[in-house]
Amino acid sequence: MKKSFIKISWPNNIETYASEGDDWFLTAEKAGIEIPTGCLTGSCGACEIDVNGETVRACVTNIKSEKEKNLNVSLTTDPFWEN
Ligand code: FES
Repeated sequence: MKKSFIKISWPNNIETYASEGDDWFLTAEKAGIEIPTGCLTGSCGACEIDVNGETVRACVTNIKSEKEKNLNVSLTTDPFWEN
């Protein structure tokens, strides 16, 4: 299957393009977004983001797009979210 560019919409209304397998942190940086980090091993959850409504741990997941070519990202670290 051919690799294609994936359009990512960030919470600050910036859109960037990425390829399958790209790193979430570097791609977020290009959009001026800093994804928080903690353990970097997938256990603390500090780096969680929502990708098309699905929670993803950015430190252990690369960008992938199975069907959709547009990914909407939001940060899940809003302190009010947990209430
Ligand atoms: S930084 Fe801890 S789960 Fe990603």
